[in-house]
Amino acid sequence: MQGAVSPFDAVRIGPITIRNRFIKAAANEAMTVDGAPSRALVEHHRALAAGGVGMTTAAYFAVAPEGRSLANQIWLRPSILADLRALTDAVHAEGAAIAAQLTHGGSFVTGLRLGHRAISASGGVNKAGLLAGNYFQRAMNDADMARVAAQFTAGALLCREAGFDGVEVHMGHGYLLNQFISPLSNKRRDAFGGDAEARMRFPLMVFARVKESVGGHMAVTAKINVADGVAGGATAEDAAVTARMLEQAGADLLVLSSGRNMESVWYMFGSPMNMPAMRAALGNSALQRLFLRLASLGVPKDLRFQDMYRLNESRRIRAAVKMKLAYLGGAVALENVEALLAEGFDCVAMARALLHDPGLVAKFRSGAVTRSGCTHCNACVFSIYGADGTSCVENPPNDPGLNRVRAAG
Ligand SMILES: Cc1cc2nc3c(=O)[nH]c(=O)nc-3n(C[C@H](O)[C@H](O)[C@H](O)COP(=O)(O)O)c2cc1C
Repeated sequence: MQGAVSPFDAVRIGPITIRNRFIKAAANEAMTVDGAPSRALVEHHRALAAGGVGMTTAAYFAVAPEGRSLANQIWLRPSILADLRALTDAVHAEGAAIAAQLTHGGSFVTGLRLGHRAISASGGVNKAGLLAGNYFQRAMNDADMARVAAQFTAGALLCREAGFDGVEVHMGHGYLLNQFISPLSNKRRDAFGGDAEARMRFPLMVFARVKESVGGHMAVTAKINVADGVAGGATAEDAAVTARMLEQAGADLLVLSSGRNMESVWYMFGSPMNMPAMRAALGNSALQRLFLRLASLGVPKDLRFQDMYRLNESRRIRAAVKMKLAYLGGAVALENVEALLAEGFDCVAMARALLHDPGLVAKFRSGAVTRSGCTHCNACVFSIYGADGTSCVENPPNDPGLNRVRAAG
């Protein structure tokens, strides 16, 4: 009989092997200069690699300029190749792998003015765009779908050229592909709307194109919601359909997330948002007032952080597919990771615990620490709006100078 899987055992993800089961989950680092990686981004991921993760994920790479949600977001184009290469080289030098998260905001454009209607699954008033003057969105047509699929493909090819080991197609949290998957935003009556299978049709088309272009050379993964966590949103049963379709399309791994930025951000974090941190970061701006309202809507009164807070919904996905899965959401202790591997998850992704301490995995391994010191205060969530890059408020501030220079500058 085989023994239990150890968190420190290597694992194969499609064509790559990572040295252990720990993945740094994508968490917008806000470490960019002119939409290119900054030196701060390189140092951030170098520290995570030196700190022992198997694979780190560089977050939130928009596949097109109009696919950005925020003005300071990295967007993929050939002129940033050297900056991307500096990032992958630094991580590889420390023995870890690095994936790039590929995203398109669709109508979730909160920080820049598009000057034209944002694209989405369906048309109408664009709630997320109101602040930046993107008042309306339009339903994508066939030409839009072909263009966006090509943008994802071009982004993946650029990441391959830059030395990334994997690409993670973002299908969660309310961004463009999730705007198709979730019934909250997909009201279409054509072949791309309707039941869970029909709503996956366009995201699957994008995934298949990416897989076709870089599969076999890179791990091609997707981040999905195990549930939206809000009435009228996608359920765990819908997510099981999504997972089965991605399994059939040859996804090498699914990263299991949850919640929507607009309707249920508390569900993504398993805890209430940090209102004082939000006020400090955003002031009394329209953005702050909108976030305040949204962040307090529908939050269960007794909501308290719990270790592995998305385990029940994630188990439904584990039961639905045989493919490799990474659990995400409140994994904070070595015993959590062991329990998740015993449940049949192949990897464990972590965001806040590794923002708090990029060296956590090595400390788990040496026995110096068995539990993260992260308090789930969620102040880091609003640090993405600062000029110095995302950080944990319990750590010394980031070196501002590192976020003023391009990675290869
Ligand atoms: C500061 C911050 C920024 C984040 N930005 C992203 C992002 O760019 N893309 C993404 O898919 N998830 C993002 N997330 C969500 C995380 O990937 C993850 O789903 C969430 O933090 C729950 O996992 P945890 O309990 O391990 O922190 C972000 C999380 C944090 C804390």
